[in-house]
Amino acid sequence: MFPRDFAWGAGTAAYQIEGGWQAEGKGPSIWDTFCHEKGGVFGEQSGDVACNSYELWEKDLECIRQLGLTHYRLSFSWSRILPDGTTRHVNQKGVQYYNKVIDDLLACDVSPMVTLYHFDLPQALQDQGGWKSPGIASLFDSYAKFCFQTFGDRIKLWITINEPYVCAKLGHEDGIHAPGLKEPGIAAYLVGHNMLRAHAMVWHSYDSLYRTQQKGWVSLAINSDWVEPLNADCTEDITATERYLAFTLGWFAWPVFVTGDYPEIMRSAIDAQSKKLGYNGSSRLPSFSKDQPAILGTADFFALNYYTSRKVKPGSGCGAMLCMKSDRDAGEVLDPSWPICGVSWLAVVPNGLRKLLKYIKDTFNNPAVYVTENGFSQVGPLQIEDTQRSVFYRDTILEVAKALQEDGVNVRGYFAWSLLDNFEWADGFSVRFGLYHVDFEDKKLCRTIYKSGREYAKMILKHKLGQ
Ligand code: GAL
Repeated sequence: MFPRDFAWGAGTAAYQIEGGWQAEGKGPSIWDTFCHEKGGVFGEQSGDVACNSYELWEKDLECIRQLGLTHYRLSFSWSRILPDGTTRHVNQKGVQYYNKVIDDLLACDVSPMVTLYHFDLPQALQDQGGWKSPGIASLFDSYAKFCFQTFGDRIKLWITINEPYVCAKLGHEDGIHAPGLKEPGIAAYLVGHNMLRAHAMVWHSYDSLYRTQQKGWVSLAINSDWVEPLNADCTEDITATERYLAFTLGWFAWPVFVTGDYPEIMRSAIDAQSKKLGYNGSSRLPSFSKDQPAILGTADFFALNYYTSRKVKPGSGCGAMLCMKSDRDAGEVLDPSWPICGVSWLAVVPNGLRKLLKYIKDTFNNPAVYVTENGFSQVGPLQIEDTQRSVFYRDTILEVAKALQEDGVNVRGYFAWSLLDNFEWADGFSVRFGLYHVDFEDKKLCRTIYKSGREYAKMILKHKLGQ
């Protein structure tokens, strides 16, 4: 059902698995600070140790081999490589660690997909304004060039930034992710803007300096739910759905894949709200200056993180306060027929992925697509024999097959989230997404395959055997 060279993967992120938060010269990141400040994370937990992949990498490699993955998605910790975020000082131990990971993967015939930024900004750069400061783009570019130079001979798939939407909104509007800022209606747009500028700068650097030799692809990972109007015949619900999409997927995909600028629906909604609340000054959604590298065309493939679906109707806002919720004016509803798995936001809708893939094909000119994240969580009593999750993966992969065969979507790979149970951001270790169970109570942090892991391995093997 899948092309021979289809990528079968699983993903992780540095802060969620590595631990070793100050091991061998690593500098602190905003997640170290956020967790240590207390109050922001479930049970005051942190990623100080997590799965200790910094020391137990070879255990992870055994899991990757047991699953038969063709690809493994990992992220680099910026402050493990450059402790203060700048190339003034390189931590050779961090470089050695990632060199070993990459070389071990390649020796096992597994291709690494590397994310340069998965939520963990060096604290030293946050102290200078972080993603709100325009200067962050060239600092990110220097870090990225260092990585291309050092590791790029062996990496064919790069992700610059993971989920700019989540970094901007959860980190700077809602304050529930690091750096924990609550500056509604203003900061998230600025952060999203600087992330797009930084991403584009890095893509251009790769394109002009490294692509000819290294022959890789660069993109950014965009998260999106699939959304439909609550009532398909109601004009208000239809326009609310358009706004919802513009403020999530469109915010980042429109500039990169369609026009080089934000969706018009997004800008006009923000400006109308500013006017209504008497907010003077220039648009809260910044504009791209003509002097900077073009944003349009800065992705060699579409990297999609899909978890769930929503029905949409006009929303409730924040009254007289500025906030993204009021700008967007689109409320989310869960269809009661969708089962919830673990965390409350994750309604299980495998078919939404097929619809979203078709939408991406039609809207963004049929790009090559990798599903870079998709998964199912467990909360509460643990089941190693996690039948529901096995069924979820089977159903979802079937939807990907239909997108490929029946809808002609150019899907190149699928990455389950996640290889291991890990530190699930504000939910700490209370939410488990792994294909492997990790015993966080035990010093050895023993990894045990779940039933869903065994079933995923079987699917991959069947595919490899051409059955
Ligand atoms: C994504 C994120 C991952 C993982 C996942 C499950 O937003 O990129 O790191 O936590 O959600 O919630």
